Amino acid sequence: MKSIAGFFIFVALVVGFLLLFPGKKYPPIPADRLHTPGQDVAACMECHGTGKKYAMKKTHPPKFECFKCHEWPRKG
Ligand code: HEC
Ligand code: HEC
Repeated sequence: MKSIAGFFIFVALVVGFLLLFPGKKYPPIPADRLHTPGQDVAACMECHGTGKKYAMKKTHPPKFECFKCHEWPRKG
């Protein structure tokens, strides 16, 4: 019985951490002419790749799949 209670406390703590910490907000993809839903990652890199005009910061998280973090605006 004791271990079951412990398990629930553990789960509650894990859930609490998940809710508190990755509270990092991802800037959405702007709704302007430069960004059109349907562009692929290769297109993004034309402007946001290393050395490009609008390169992502060096502190940018590992960038594999832009759309996992950056969402297209709902409208547009
Ligand atoms: C033609 C160049 C160009 C292309 C292609 C492009 N971007 Fe951008 N992006 C910009 C510019 C310029 C800005 C900043 C000005 C603005 O709001 O448009 C920007 C801003 C952003 C921002 C917002 C940054 C902030 O601080 O709010 C995100 C996120 C972003 N782009 C993601 C993407 C993704 C994902 C793609 C591929 C689907 C992409 N961009 C393709 C030029 C481009
Ligand atoms: C793991 C999540 C994640 C992925 C994947 C990701 N981003 Fe980001 N992006 C972020 C976060 C978080 C920020 C805000 C960083 C900050 O404020 O320092 C950001 C910021 C940006 C910005 C604003 C300028 C900057 O460097 O802070 C641009 C442009 C951008 N991302 C483009 C992209 C593109 C293009 C891709 C795909 C190649 C991509 N991101 C993939 C999380 C992500």
